[in-house]
Amino acid sequence: GKDAPLVGRRALVTSGPTYEAIDPVRFIGNRSSGKQGHAIAAALSRAGAETTLITGPTAEPAPQGVQVVRIESARQMLAACQDALPVDIAVFAAAVADWRVAGQAPQKLKKQEGGQPPRLEFAENPDILATIARLAQGRPGLVIGFAAETENMVANAVAKRARKGCDWMLANDVSTGTGTFGGDANTIHLVTADSVEDWPRLTKQQVADRLAARIAEHFRSLPA
Ligand code: PMT
Repeated sequence: GKDAPLVGRRALVTSGPTYEAIDPVRFIGNRSSGKQGHAIAAALSRAGAETTLITGPTAEPAPQGVQVVRIESARQMLAACQDALPVDIAVFAAAVADWRVAGQAPQKLKKQEGGQPPRLEFAENPDILATIARLAQGRPGLVIGFAAETENMVANAVAKRARKGCDWMLANDVSTGTGTFGGDANTIHLVTADSVEDWPRLTKQQVADRLAARIAEHFRSLPA
């Protein structure tokens, strides 16, 4: 119907940062608050989609009507995404760590009197978006990524869309001072296979509603 155009559809949304453990008490993370991803999960649920939100550690409350899966690391996030399949719609708004600490310490690293600071080595994390977008079997019908850029917004998002194999890429400017990480507003460029839409500056909630409406429009012509 008009109020719930995504009834009968299943959606998966990732949100928040990942935490990559250094030892049992320390981690490497980032400044993602989960506001954008959580708002998208809430908007898809309001539009009628059966929605699973897979989130790193955030202070955001669980959106109403959404099944929430809490994880910490990128590898846990990938496993949770795979468990949530099959879905019709997948939106990857999480700020996933590109690298984890290689050989994380099983015990707390000790500061030794007069000793050297530890040296951390890194290993590459799986690319969750690319993994799901390139599934030979069970690929979601519509795969949407975010491109966090500090320059050449649209050109970088066009290249990233092709590289990762997703259908739509939402480019946002995460330069210092924009407040895109952690703030309540966002300015989006929606990159598809054959078009670029420049959205005005909106609240993250408005971005979520507009995205849900675009997704509903995409599915309108397809059988549920
Ligand atoms: O959480 P907020 O404070 O509200 O901030 C929102 C946001 C800025 C985090 C969000 O709008 C956003 O841009 N999310 C994507 C951040 C990011 O990691 O961008 P990227 O350009 O590095 O990655 C591109 C895409 O690949 C993203 O969809 C990302 O989720 C995905 N990715 C990246 C690395 C990886 N190992 N696996 C992935 O799936």
